[in-house]
Amino acid sequence: MIPVMKKLYSNGNKIIVVIDKANYDEVFVEKYLNECNAEVILCNTFQNGEISEELKNIIDAKIQEYDINLIHVSAADILIVKTMDYIAGRVPLSCSNNAKMSCGEGICGACTARFKGHKVKRLCKLQTDPEFIFEGRRFI
Ligand code: FES
Repeated sequence: MIPVMKKLYSNGNKIIVVIDKANYDEVFVEKYLNECNAEVILCNTFQNGEISEELKNIIDAKIQEYDINLIHVSAADILIVKTMDYIAGRVPLSCSNNAKMSCGEGICGACTARFKGHKVKRLCKLQTDPEFIFEGRRFI
């Protein structure tokens, strides 16, 4: 999330960051959040295989409160998909798609994901709309 946040900040955007710090005592990226003057909201983002009501309420409130022009999700794939489903096109969305990456060149296969029809794709070489990254994706 840091490179995305820095780019958004350098282009004059206000940044709101929702972080699930799980069982950690501190937010380990706090230095970068301060550098980008980000509004930080701590919340439990995921419960029982779904995004939490707390996160849904935050998303809805911020969409209503501000003229949000981008939601970026840097998280586990399942959280990205559930968030994308919840937002349902109300705001443009971008996401990370490289949680598992090694060479970044399409050679090693560390980033492969399996899709319907026994298709295997190397995510380091895939740049597309998040809707298509996860379409037909098998998460388990
Ligand atoms: S990271 Fe090596 S093939 Fe994608």
